[in-house]
Amino acid sequence: MDNFMNMTKDLGHKPELQRLVSLDATYDDALGGKLVVAPINMNEPGKRILDSGTADGTWLRGVRSKQSAQHHYFGSDVEGELFPEDTDGITYFAHSFKDPWPEQYLGTFDLVHVRGSLAGSAPEGPAPVIKNLTTLVKPGGWVQLMEMNGSSPPKNGPAMTDFAKMASELFAGIGVGDFANNNKHMLEAAGLKNVQEKRVIVNLGKKAKPEFFDKSIHGVTGPLVPLTSVAKAVPSSFTVEQIDSLPARVKAELENEGGQVEMIIAFGQKA
Ligand SMILES: C[S@@+](CC[C@H](N)C(=O)[O-])C[C@H]1O[C@@H](n2cnc3c(N)ncnc32)[C@H](O)[C@@H]1O
Repeated sequence: MDNFMNMTKDLGHKPELQRLVSLDATYDDALGGKLVVAPINMNEPGKRILDSGTADGTWLRGVRSKQSAQHHYFGSDVEGELFPEDTDGITYFAHSFKDPWPEQYLGTFDLVHVRGSLAGSAPEGPAPVIKNLTTLVKPGGWVQLMEMNGSSPPKNGPAMTDFAKMASELFAGIGVGDFANNNKHMLEAAGLKNVQEKRVIVNLGKKAKPEFFDKSIHGVTGPLVPLTSVAKAVPSSFTVEQIDSLPARVKAELENEGGQVEMIIAFGQKA
C-alpha cells in the first residue's frame, strides 16, 4: 500500500482527512449511530478505548460524542502527522500495528478498534496484526474490526461492480486477500471467544438519504485515484485504460443510479 500512502501524502493530508470525515458520517448513519458494536457497557465509566489506524481520531470523537459516561480514549496510527494539533483530551501515539505494542499498554484496554486500515498489514496480511491487537486487551475486553466486503459485494451497476473486482484483485496482489470476510476466523484463530460478525449495507449517492448524497460519494470515490495507482502495480484483469477510467465511471454511476457497499464488523472477546 506504499503507493497509496505516498499519493495521499502528495495530495496533502487535508483532502484525505475530509474524505474520512464524510465516510464516517455515512457509516454512522448506516450503523444507526452505534459505532461500538461489541457488547460493552458504555454507561459504566472508565473504559479504556484504543482506535488503531485512527488517522485524525474521527471515530474516537464520534464514539465520545454519544456517551454520557466518561471514558479514556487513545488513538494510534503509523502516520503520526495525521493526529490533530488540539488533542482535545485524547491520547495519540505513533505506532505501526505490525510492531509489538508499548509495554505500558499491554492488557489494559476494554476495546481495541480498527476500521478501514487492515490493508496496511500488507504484505504479511492481517493475521499477525490481529494476534498483536489481542495483546492490548484486558480479560473480558473486546477487539472490533470493520472492513469493506470487496469480494462478495451487493449487486450494483457496472462501474461499482468493476470497482469491487479491482479492489479484490488489488488486495490479493498486495498479499492481504479477502480479509473483511476472514476477520471473524482470524479473531478466533487469535484465541478470542464469543466471536461474532455484523454485516451492514451502506447506501451511496442516489441510493443514500439526501443528506448523505455528497458525503457518501466523496467517502467512497476519494481513495479511488490512489487505489488505481496501486492496482496498476499488481496483476490485474483490467487494462491500464480501464483502471484509469474507473474513478470517473464510479462517480457518475453513484450520482445517477447510486450504489451499495457492505461493511463487515467482526468482534471477539478476550478470555
Ligand atoms: C483509510 S484510513 C482509515 C482511518 C480511520 N480508521 C477511519 O475509519 O476513518 C487508513 C488508516 O490506516 C493507517 N495505517 C496504515 N497502515 C498502518 C499500520 N501499519 N499501522 C497503523 N496504522 C496504519 C493509515 O495511516 C490511515 O490513517
